[in-house]
Amino acid sequence: MKAIIKKLVPLGLRRTIRRWRAAASIFTVSFFSKSFFLSRLYYFLFNREFDREFRSVLAGRLVHLTFQGEGVYALRRNIHRLEKGLLMQPRKKVFGEHFIEDTVEYLRIASAKQFACADEIKWATDVLDLYFSVVGSTEKIARAQRLYDAFRKDLKNDIDGAYSPYEFQSIQKPNIHKDQLDILFKARRSVRWYEDRTIPKDLVIESAEIAAQAPSACNRLPYRFVFVEDKARIASIAPLANGTAGFAQNIPFLVVVVGDLSAYEEEKDRHLIYIDSSLASMQFMLALEVRGLSSCPINWPDMSMSERKIKEALKLGYHEKVIMLISVGFAVSTGGIAYSQKKKRGTIIEEFSG
Ligand SMILES: Cc1cc2nc3c(=O)[nH]c(=O)nc-3n(C[C@H](O)[C@H](O)[C@H](O)COP(=O)(O)O)c2cc1C
Repeated sequence: MKAIIKKLVPLGLRRTIRRWRAAASIFTVSFFSKSFFLSRLYYFLFNREFDREFRSVLAGRLVHLTFQGEGVYALRRNIHRLEKGLLMQPRKKVFGEHFIEDTVEYLRIASAKQFACADEIKWATDVLDLYFSVVGSTEKIARAQRLYDAFRKDLKNDIDGAYSPYEFQSIQKPNIHKDQLDILFKARRSVRWYEDRTIPKDLVIESAEIAAQAPSACNRLPYRFVFVEDKARIASIAPLANGTAGFAQNIPFLVVVVGDLSAYEEEKDRHLIYIDSSLASMQFMLALEVRGLSSCPINWPDMSMSERKIKEALKLGYHEKVIMLISVGFAVSTGGIAYSQKKKRGTIIEEFSG
């Protein structure tokens, strides 16, 4: 259609139409952006781009409230809050009182229904053991402890070591010179041309696992890395992201980063799937780099058709959002790399002086 219009309408007229359209857009947007009411009206009347997001956030809340809420994410968040209470300086005599009963109940259900993995159960029990050994007693805390004691002995906890707060000085310090780290950051470039070689999957698994060391709000880790290795599948999924034109067929290993909106009870936290998974994705790409593998993050535009197709292909729920794709492979040594000039201190730093 576009090609036909291009042929029929002279260039001068097309330019004039483009200018009118731009002016009309500026007029409309400046009018409707004046207030909450008008912007709502705009997105109700003229533009339904946010509909899917509204539905996904609600679908996430529903899963949280009806299933996960009793399970992993709420448990992870509360255990994290207890850890913060334990390491508080000075530590309060009584803390976590208003959520300790919920926390114990979440653990009971998560272990009974096997929502939580062995590591999560270990972390929760180690922290709860410590908590109950140091916290002052109140009616609520005593009630929570009775509930905990009733099922604590049935929890499998055969993993070595303590999964509870420790001192900073016990952290193993890396032996990396800052210059080496700087070189690594500069060596990681978006690589789009890969050798036709099998990718050692264990290296990608290791990279994903170490990437999960990234910070995550309330330590929920509301994302996962979905590996797509089948060539035909990659060839059908990669082009759904617009930015793969020309190299979609050259991707030997594709990772789809998926965020899980069921991690949250409230809308205010909905952006954390993007923040947490992006922090982990960066670590993932650097971890790949030191293992000899190159990568390219690929934008996942929020478009209904692509979302429907990828959700069907990967069997994702409505509460799950694709955050980005990451192609992985061995770089062709003569393959081109964009210069991609970076911002420096004059443009990346603002020294705020009031
Ligand atoms: C969120 C995100 C989305 C990106 N999407 C694409 C994409 O769709 N296609 C592509 O070729 N590169 C994509 N890139 C790679 C960028 O173009 C690249 O990071 C940028 O030009 C800087 O180059 P460098 O990664 O080599 O430093 C994306 C990068 C990010 C962080």
